[in-house]
Amino acid sequence: MSEISSVVRKASRVEIVEVAPRDGFQSISNPLPTADKARCIEALIHAGVRRIEIGSFVSPKAIPQMADTADLFRQFCDVPGLRLSALVPNLRGADNALEAGVNELVYVVSVSETHNQKNVRQSVDASLDGLANIAQRVREHAGESRPAMRLDLGTSFDCPYDGLVSWRQVSAVLEKALQLTQGINLEVAFCDTTGRATPWQVADYFLNLQRMHGKSGIAWAFHGHDTYGMGVANALFAIQHGATVLDASAAGLGGCPFAPGATGNTATEDLVYALNGANIQCGIDLNQLLEAADLIASLPGGQTASHLRHVPRQRIA
Ligand code: COA
Ligand code: ZN
Repeated sequence: MSEISSVVRKASRVEIVEVAPRDGFQSISNPLPTADKARCIEALIHAGVRRIEIGSFVSPKAIPQMADTADLFRQFCDVPGLRLSALVPNLRGADNALEAGVNELVYVVSVSETHNQKNVRQSVDASLDGLANIAQRVREHAGESRPAMRLDLGTSFDCPYDGLVSWRQVSAVLEKALQLTQGINLEVAFCDTTGRATPWQVADYFLNLQRMHGKSGIAWAFHGHDTYGMGVANALFAIQHGATVLDASAAGLGGCPFAPGATGNTATEDLVYALNGANIQCGIDLNQLLEAADLIASLPGGQTASHLRHVPRQRIA
């Protein structure tokens, strides 16, 4: 066994968050019919996907594609063992999500000023103030009714407007965010919004996290895009160095509307193929996932970026 594969095998299990219903469907300019989205989500669940970012509670003027998130949540919230999350950009979104019954809030703050301004139209500091308010809302729920919280640190590696982002910048935002979320069960995702990160940069970040926060009990996640073809390699380096959660999007659909030039998320099927090769469990059946990915790829207007869908099926054993 090579040195690399013996290190990768350190992780025996990883959680995959399927983000096609949020990052994927928001990238299709004409909003999809809710019934079409629901068929895709059903196919993903059938393949064994157990964590799904179902949509976002954002301004319908900013992202009209997400206007039916509450409806989709209602359709799937009773599926046993399924964990559904939704992105919220502000307190209003968090309140709307909680009213709809969503119990995992994903709050997004970009590390770079310009992307944060374009994405949520406020400064990073103002977004951190918003985080404090949402954290307070979460604390108001006691016991089992307390929602889970995830912080998505957008543009953690690179900004489409400001260029390379350093660990020092990320760390500054992270430390403030951790102060504001004390007492909350937190997952933090480092988002390669543009897909420009390299595996070494990713490894470096997660090593720093292990060094600084290894005993904190926080779950660390990596959210990658495959624009530069680094998606799977970046994800593997992330779990090799301490991440336990990976975001991916079936068929490789996705992209932030405020990140020009960025293509889709790392395709879930490409990632599952790589994980299977190292016997790292994620609970997803690759063949059934490919069926779901084909369905998603057939939706009009979507730009897909999967490798595995183009390999003859008999060669994917
Ligand atoms: N849900 C629904 N509507 C919302 C909302 C929310 N969470 N937050 C604000 N709005 C509405 C306001 O009521 C207002 O509506 P009106 O024009 O009919 O009065 C409108 O949206 C603008 O509100 P404002 O507070 O001025 O916000 P803004 O124009 O500065 O936009 C955001 C800020 C964050 C609401 C908006 O940029 C947004 O939703 N961005 C989404 C970002 C995103 O999802 N990016 C991709 C994922 S990373
Ligand atoms: Zn993304």
